[in-house]
Amino acid sequence: MKTSEERKMPQIKCSLDGPYVLNDFIEREVAYLQNEQGEKYCRTVGVSLCRCGGSKNKPFCDGTHKQIGFSDKNSADSTLDKRQNFEGKEITIHFNRALCSSSERCVHGLPSVFVAGGKPWIRPDGDTVAKIIATIKQCPSGALSYSIDGVEYRDQVREPMITVAKNGPYEVTGSIELANPPTLCECASTEHYTLCRCGASKNKPFCDGTHWEINFTSE
Ligand code: FES
Repeated sequence: MKTSEERKMPQIKCSLDGPYVLNDFIEREVAYLQNEQGEKYCRTVGVSLCRCGGSKNKPFCDGTHKQIGFSDKNSADSTLDKRQNFEGKEITIHFNRALCSSSERCVHGLPSVFVAGGKPWIRPDGDTVAKIIATIKQCPSGALSYSIDGVEYRDQVREPMITVAKNGPYEVTGSIELANPPTLCECASTEHYTLCRCGASKNKPFCDGTHWEINFTSE
């Protein structure tokens, strides 16, 4: 049974072959709806966010998904859904490629540890533990996490937020619930994740970095 506070948490619903519908569950007055006494009715507020990539009114849905026959089918190769562990002297870094949205904050933020094109591409002894932790906390998709002394750290305590990344996905933080949850990748976080908005991810509803390949632009 959820507490009243939990019920007020926002929630994202993936509508079938259509937009993400965001309900915030905080009742608000509807300006144009009143009873005979002139009292406004209250309702929860819903916002529809484009996920086909075709809306002319991004980030909001304008109905284009119907015209272009958008499908939300997940066609990801499940064999790629595998977590790798990179063990260092003081910290072990975990990475699941299937979750990665290719934000590149790790390779740009700490190139001595996250080496673009390197083999291995993650080197957990390449810098201080503090810097590694700070960098992993910037990972928007949950593809990266870490363990120290056998205890894994992945989620953070944050206010619910959806950040619309320029030319990229919706970055969800603060444990916003997916109302009709898809099959989650191995060790996926429900506190932070990235949702595709270009329409091209194979791992819908999650971003798999394909927006880079198709040069998605959100202008
Ligand atoms: S927004 Fe990243 S794959 Fe669609």
